[in-house]
Amino acid sequence: MTSVQIKDKHFELFIREEIIIDKITRIAERINSDMTGKTPLFICVLNGVFMFAADLFKRIEIPCEITFVRLKSYQGAQTSGTVREIHGLTESIENRNVIILEDIIDTGFTMRYLIDKLQIHKPASMKIATLLFKPNALQTDITPDYAAIEIPNDFIVGYGLDYDGFGRNLRNIYKIKLC
Ligand code: IMP
Ligand code: MG
Repeated sequence: MTSVQIKDKHFELFIREEIIIDKITRIAERINSDMTGKTPLFICVLNGVFMFAADLFKRIEIPCEITFVRLKSYQGAQTSGTVREIHGLTESIENRNVIILEDIIDTGFTMRYLIDKLQIHKPASMKIATLLFKPNALQTDITPDYAAIEIPNDFIVGYGLDYDGFGRNLRNIYKIKLC
């Protein structure tokens, strides 16, 4: 499929699944080497991250744990700028080496909020791994330690990411057509 329609918007093929998997494999290799002996806890930010988390986690070869939290800052195709509470974190992160997994860092507000909240619980270290990073959209001082793919400031869907709830099932990533 080279183009898709979701509700009122048209999207064109942007990043193929094979490329996505290749980029994820590369950051998995870096994590395996950087975190040897550290038994990291991956904290995955739902919903958009589920495909990335699964494909990355399969490639982690050191002892590790995974957990999932929810918080949302996005409605439709525009960021709302506000973020809600973290739900679902039952594990203690004190003295743990935490790696936060996100689908995409856009303004960075979500990640800034999450890091500030988690820092209170005194993890030994905290790193950020994101599938996608839009450096030109960044409005905070967040720098991902592991960014699989850097993209321009376009709205995208697929591979877990949605437009208004739809498009998460697409195996490739599509970008919005401005027509
Ligand atoms: P931020 O707080 O602006 O960095 O936005 C982070 C969240 O907004 C991500 O976790 C996504 O859920 C959502 N988001 C940002 N950009 C896009 C996009 O291009 N497509 C779909 N969701 C996006
Ligand atoms: Mg997200």
